[in-house]
Amino acid sequence: MPQRGSASGPQYNGISPPNLDLPWPESPETITANLLKLTEAVENPRTKFIFSRLITHLHQFVGETSLTTEEWMTAINFLTRTGQACTPIRQEFILLSDVLGVSALVDGLNNPKVSGGTASSVLGPFFTDDAPDVTIGDTIASEGMGEYMYVEGRVLDTHGKPVPNATIETWETDSEGFYDTQYSDRTRPDCRGRLRSDEEGRYGYRAVVPVAYAIPGDGPVGELLTHLNRHNMRPNHLHVSIEAPGYRKLVTALYARGDKWLSSDAVFGVKRSLVVDLKVVDNEEEARLRGFPNGKTFKLLQFDFVLVPSEEAEVARQKFVVGKAKI
Ligand SMILES: [Fe+2]
Repeated sequence: MPQRGSASGPQYNGISPPNLDLPWPESPETITANLLKLTEAVENPRTKFIFSRLITHLHQFVGETSLTTEEWMTAINFLTRTGQACTPIRQEFILLSDVLGVSALVDGLNNPKVSGGTASSVLGPFFTDDAPDVTIGDTIASEGMGEYMYVEGRVLDTHGKPVPNATIETWETDSEGFYDTQYSDRTRPDCRGRLRSDEEGRYGYRAVVPVAYAIPGDGPVGELLTHLNRHNMRPNHLHVSIEAPGYRKLVTALYARGDKWLSSDAVFGVKRSLVVDLKVVDNEEEARLRGFPNGKTFKLLQFDFVLVPSEEAEVARQKFVVGKAKI
């Protein structure tokens, strides 16, 4: 807050009044029209395009719904609380975007299916950039985090050629259905790791079988779902994000067949091609060979990820670009 006599308060940004003969904003229609005219002053064509569409649709929404002052304040309060629920490791706005289907929509537009390429899926709010580096065969989960699972396969391109040295980020829930970031006493990352594919594009790591989980219900987004009579469950899944020079970054997830929430995922992330079988391996020798310290049973998830060359990906994306203004 500024103090009298100090210069620390809001300052004029120096932009001149517009050289436009705008009618005084005395009716709803004038307000929209004036704002659209003002938007003409935006220099960046893409920003101008996005902002003019935003104003048009937002104002149309207010008009169509005859939004009451109370409803508008409810929305403002909701957004305020959504912001307040965010912390360095909790992202309530991503969650909001997820449950409104916007994340899936943006993902779908930017990563359209390219023949042979692995489909993308939503990033979700639980990615962190502090995953530890692991090597092939290592575990990403500490002992006791859940039922053993071994994940293996190859990273290939759309011609079946191995992609060596691809960076693979992977994260998942423990057997309680929680990500490490959801524990208030988190001291280090768990159930997440970063590894690289080998010369033949192979990867493999020990993990735990993820379980279906409720997205956080103790914040405004959870309240919203309850208000809308929607469940807040996600089917069990393993997140994987893969990057390699020359290829479109793949952000995806693998979903275990048979989960009861597969067809009604709260964040619209499931695609048929991402549903996988978890094979049961019941063999002590095999368990030791894979590095599991205890028991003789584990689940095996085998999946080859197929990356799309950047140029091919961009051609596919351009087919979805609406409007003439581009970045
Ligand atoms: Fe998730």
